[in-house]
Amino acid sequence: MIVTKPPMGWNSWNTFAHNIDENLIKEIADKMVDEGYLECGYDYLVIDDCWSELKRDEQGRLVPDHVKFPNGMKALADYVHSKGLKFGIYSCVGNYTCAGYPASFEYEFIDAETFAEWGVDYLKLDYCYKPQSEDGAKLYRRMGLALANCGRDIVLSACSWGADETHRWIKSTGSHLWRSTGDIVDCFSSIRDIYNIQKGIYEYNGQGCFNDMDMLIVGMGGKGHVGRENCCTTEEYRTHFSIWAFFGSPLMIGSDIRTQTPETKAILQNKAVIAVNQDAAYRQPYLLTGRPDNADVWVRHMENGDIVLGYFNMSDNEVGFPVSFTDIGLNRSTGVKLRLFDLWEMKSLGEFEDIFVTGVPAHGSKLIRARLVKK
Ligand code: GLA
Repeated sequence: MIVTKPPMGWNSWNTFAHNIDENLIKEIADKMVDEGYLECGYDYLVIDDCWSELKRDEQGRLVPDHVKFPNGMKALADYVHSKGLKFGIYSCVGNYTCAGYPASFEYEFIDAETFAEWGVDYLKLDYCYKPQSEDGAKLYRRMGLALANCGRDIVLSACSWGADETHRWIKSTGSHLWRSTGDIVDCFSSIRDIYNIQKGIYEYNGQGCFNDMDMLIVGMGGKGHVGRENCCTTEEYRTHFSIWAFFGSPLMIGSDIRTQTPETKAILQNKAVIAVNQDAAYRQPYLLTGRPDNADVWVRHMENGDIVLGYFNMSDNEVGFPVSFTDIGLNRSTGVKLRLFDLWEMKSLGEFEDIFVTGVPAHGSKLIRARLVKK
C-alpha cells in the first residue's frame, strides 16, 4: 500500500485518553461529517489506547472492552465506514500498550488478521514495553509484513517518538508515518519544542512515510487529557497548525470536535493551508532565514510552480522579516516578480519585485503563497 499524502483525521487520545466508548466514537463520526471536517480531508477516525479488555481470548485474539464497546469493533467500523470515513485503532510493538493493555509483541500476525476482519484501515503502533533485547526496527518491520499480508489495506502509523534514531530506519519498515517526537501537550512551549526538533530531521520526511509531529492540540483550550489551562492563545494555535501543515505532518485533530469554537474551526478548516500540507509534489522545505532568537522563514515549492513562504516567529517579540528574492533563487536575470497571497488573511498582498518585508507578532506565523509572474 502506498500513501501519497499526509493522513488527516481525528484521534481520541489528546482529549479523551481512557474515556472512550462506542457512543463517543459514533458522535465524533457524525460530527466529522456534519461539521465539514470530512469535506476538508479529515477522513481517518482513530481510537487510541485503552479500547481492549485486559486479557486476550483463548485463541490469543485481542478483545474489545465489553462495557465501552458492547457491539464490538466490526460493528463500530461498519458505522464509521457508513459515514464515508476510515477506521483506525491502536496497539504497541511491546508486551503492553503505554496504558497497560495487551499489545502486539509476538502477536503481530494474529493481530493484523483480527484488525483486517474488523475492517480496520489504520493502525497506530506505539513503542512502550518493548522487550529490551529486541530491536525496534525489527518489530516495526514484523508488523509491516503482517499488515502487508493481511489481505486489507491498513496504514501503519509508527509511534516510537523519534527514539533510537527512528528517522534512520523507519522507511525500511513498511510504516506510512512515524512519530518524530515525544508527546505534545496543550502549551506553546510544547509546540516550540517539537518545531525545534524538526530543524534537525526535516530532510527525512517524504512521500510514502511521513514525519508525524503528533496529534494537534488546536482548540483544546485546556480541556482533556493533554489540556493545560490558559497555555495557548488562538494565535499560538494558528502557528501550531501553520507549522504542521507547512512541514507536511499528518494532521490528526486531538480536540473535541463536538464542542468547537468558530475560531478553532476556522483554523482546522482553512482549505488553503490544508492544500499546502496535501500538495501533490510533497517537496521538502528549506530554511531561508534562521534567526538566533528562534524566528524563522522557510520556503516550500508547490506542485503547480508556486512557492510558499512559512514565517514562524517562536520568539517572544515581534519580528520584521525581509525576504530577498535572490535568496530564493529569483535574481533579476529571471525577469519574474512575485504575486503574494496571505493564506490566513485570505487576501492578496499585491505584486513585489526583488524584496518583500513583513512583520510577524510574537508566537505568530504567516503562510504566504507566491505565484511567479513575468515583469
Ligand atoms: C504514547 C503515545 C501517545 C498515546 C499514548 C497512549 O504516549 O505517544 O500518542 O498514544 O501513548 O497511551
